[in-house]
Amino acid sequence: MKLECIFLVFVFFTSAVARKDGVNSAVWNPIEDINDPHVTEVAKFAVTAYDKQSGEKLELEKVIKGDTMVVTGIDYRLTLTATNGSSSNSYETIVWEKPWIHFKSLLSFTPVHA
Ligand SMILES: *[C@@H]1O[C@H](CO)[C@@H](O)[C@H](O)[C@H]1NC(C)=O
Repeated sequence: MKLECIFLVFVFFTSAVARKDGVNSAVWNPIEDINDPHVTEVAKFAVTAYDKQSGEKLELEKVIKGDTMVVTGIDYRLTLTATNGSSSNSYETIVWEKPWIHFKSLLSFTPVHA
């Protein structure tokens, strides 16, 4: 509980700073541990949400790389591969998470053509 409060204060503080300076000054920070279970959870959320929107049946294969940015919560920008059962593709997705209320929203999900 205490940790959550500290995190909340941190988020409000940093997002206030980011807003003051304008969106363009917001910085993406590379995710160091791409195998972090929470990163996988965010990637799975992105693929599932995309499937719901598009009617496709993609399944997450793996996350290749990612960044996070603090914006009243956290934006995850992940590059991942997913398969529809017969062919595998790379996608870039952005998920907005407000962890303290367990909120996630898919902002974008687009194929990356190598
Ligand atoms: C998977 O994607 C490929 C390439 O877009 C397509 O040709 C194929 O029909 C798709 N397969 C399924 C099962 O949707």
